Amino acid sequence: MTRIDQKTWADRIRARIDFEFARDAPPEGFPSLPLVPTGRYTDPDFYALERSRLWKRTWLLAGREEDFAGPGHFRTFDRSGSPLLLVRGEDDVLRAFYNTCQHRGAPVVREACGAAKRLRCQYHSWTYGLDGRLLHVPDRRDFGELDTSRRALAPVRCETYDGWVFVNEAASAPSLRDWLGPVAAEWSPLRGAGLRAHGTRRKRVPANWKIVADAFLETYHVRTIHPHSVSKLLDHRGAAMGLFPNGHSRMVTPKWPEAIERQRSLPSPLPEIPGLDPLFAETNPAYSLFPNLITPLDTVGFPFILFWPVDVATTDVEWTFYGPPAETSAQERGWQTLLALFDPVMEEDFANLGPMQESVASGALESIPLNYQERRIYHLHEEIDRRLGPDVPEALRVEPVLEPFWETESADIAG
Ligand code: FES
Ligand SMILES: [Fe+2]
Repeated sequence: MTRIDQKTWADRIRARIDFEFARDAPPEGFPSLPLVPTGRYTDPDFYALERSRLWKRTWLLAGREEDFAGPGHFRTFDRSGSPLLLVRGEDDVLRAFYNTCQHRGAPVVREACGAAKRLRCQYHSWTYGLDGRLLHVPDRRDFGELDTSRRALAPVRCETYDGWVFVNEAASAPSLRDWLGPVAAEWSPLRGAGLRAHGTRRKRVPANWKIVADAFLETYHVRTIHPHSVSKLLDHRGAAMGLFPNGHSRMVTPKWPEAIERQRSLPSPLPEIPGLDPLFAETNPAYSLFPNLITPLDTVGFPFILFWPVDVATTDVEWTFYGPPAETSAQERGWQTLLALFDPVMEEDFANLGPMQESVASGALESIPLNYQERRIYHLHEEIDRRLGPDVPEALRVEPVLEPFWETESADIAG
């Protein structure tokens, strides 16, 4: 992996922003994006394919290292579509298992989170160690030839990067670090391990998860949907985007010069993440981690916005703000103010999504024409189809065209 300094990276992005401002058409050679069939948002079979081929076979954010403070601390996680259990072992290693007792399948842990010395199934008290091994079977004499060494909890991949904990049900998946690719390097100056959660919000939205995700992948909409909020801050015409392997992407949208000045003159009570290039104050660098995590970064911290499908037309949106630990009550209040300021922006986005789902379901819109500024949406859909494989019906497929435009260089950015 090449190691470059933040300034080199930031200068490259600045040059890209200048290019975006100056162009009067998409860059030479960039294709008109093929139409996206709207059945992708409504078809129950397509959704079932996503559940089995995508959500059960991809890395999903399941928490933070500090959510598992010491040995025995556990949490359940069911967003991939299976009941999972994450628990820190006596050796301090964080592991994930199916929350499925190897006797008759009762959940081993029923609470959403807690701490335990052993994991004891509440049905018949089979008892497992924190490493998943089966330690005790009541009335063992009545089981005949039961091989308890083969009745450990079924393991699930669990890996962490810089404080972020991910799980993946696919045993054959690439390592988390490989899958993150250039995003891991670009996040390294944010020093995730030193960040803390400052509050979580949740909202159930009556729309397919991709209608929701698409809405966070472009800034083409900010003038109309966010005229008094985001639009006062960001100039979408300079948005510089990067498409990465595995469906991840980046979008760095410059702030209006007046907005940068305004922010400088209104000092925040919140400490900045140390060592960030000034680009982080001049722009809004946003990342999308495939399939369902979007984060618009800022110098004091940022939300991780997650989209979890509930059914084909329902999505749970969950966003948590992270930043350096609050050390004073003024900083605590500062975080609450920041969260409260973000709520109406999210509501502006949400107000649109249910009606869009109704529209695509009505049959009134057969396909979606995406423009150059919306290419991160097309990139997401291309990766979805790569995951789903050849079973996607032809009428619902998107034609892959963006790979020649990927950024593949993996640079470790020194902060
Ligand atoms: S199902 Fe867990 S002990 Fe019987
Ligand atoms: Fe928006």
